Amino acid sequence: MPMLQVTDLKVVYQNGNEALKSISLTAEKGEIVAIIGRSGAGKSTLLRCINGLQRAASGQIILDGEVITQMSEQQLRKARRKIGFVWQEYNLIDRLPAMTNVLTGRLGYNNGLGSLVGYFSREHREIALKNLERVGLLHRANFRADRLSGGEKQRVAIARAISQEPKIILADEPVASLDPELSVQVLSDLARVARELGVLTFINLHQIELAKEFCDRMVGIAQGRVVFDGPPQQLNQAITDMIYRFDKPASTPHLTEMPMAANIAGVGI
Ligand SMILES: Nc1ncnc2c1ncn2[C@@H]1O[C@H](COP(=O)(O)OP(=O)(O)OP(=O)(O)O)[C@@H](O)[C@H]1O
Ligand SMILES: [Mg+2]
Repeated sequence: MPMLQVTDLKVVYQNGNEALKSISLTAEKGEIVAIIGRSGAGKSTLLRCINGLQRAASGQIILDGEVITQMSEQQLRKARRKIGFVWQEYNLIDRLPAMTNVLTGRLGYNNGLGSLVGYFSREHREIALKNLERVGLLHRANFRADRLSGGEKQRVAIARAISQEPKIILADEPVASLDPELSVQVLSDLARVARELGVLTFINLHQIELAKEFCDRMVGIAQGRVVFDGPPQQLNQAITDMIYRFDKPASTPHLTEMPMAANIAGVGI
């Protein structure tokens, strides 16, 4: 069984907006997958469904044998301990040191009382320090999060995510707030640690060139469906144009009904 299996996933927001029509894909442990598509294509919606923040109208998500789409809120809270999330805006606790922020990734493993008083055992602290070291930030362990640079903040967020010992890391536009040079460095760090640890990682990205450089696989979403799924080498200009061309579902036929897209949607191009 694959680490992640998404089948015929459909999401309809309360205002009737059908953000995802039918998304199906599977992914294995250790893969680094870029999710690409126009603004509004549904990339963030897909990641939010995988960690259960957004409910599906229909379809199924199975992560490591557990059916996310059928879980109660309580079950989801537990499942999320094993799902690392990296946000564009870092989501660190500003007034706490980098180290403590990384330790929050260990909360799911800490006993209840320890968590309440902020006590983490030596084992947890060693894991957190090791992960700060992995992202090259050991020397910033005692810096308050709000005194770190943007690139450093995102590296702390990556260290926090891997400290969860996650089954999957979901990164939603992780470098959108960084300048081009830092974007390359931070994305490179994220891909490197995910590979070192063999963690399946989904990265929503607007910068196609970065996605091609650091990811093993590209998934293009348009009109609520997967319209491309394959290695970066297969993503030529024509396919890229096709992924980014569509924005008004009502005015165009479904991609999967078009002969060209029928080929593109499969891996064998
Ligand atoms: N809470 C919501 N209520 C209603 N519609 C929503 C909500 N969140 C997102 N949408 C809509 O669902 C669609 C998909 O949004 P989503 O944020 O998943 O796109 P995205 O691909 O992540 O876009 P971007 O690249 O701009 O981040 C869009 O049309 C968006 O306007
Ligand atoms: Mg988004």
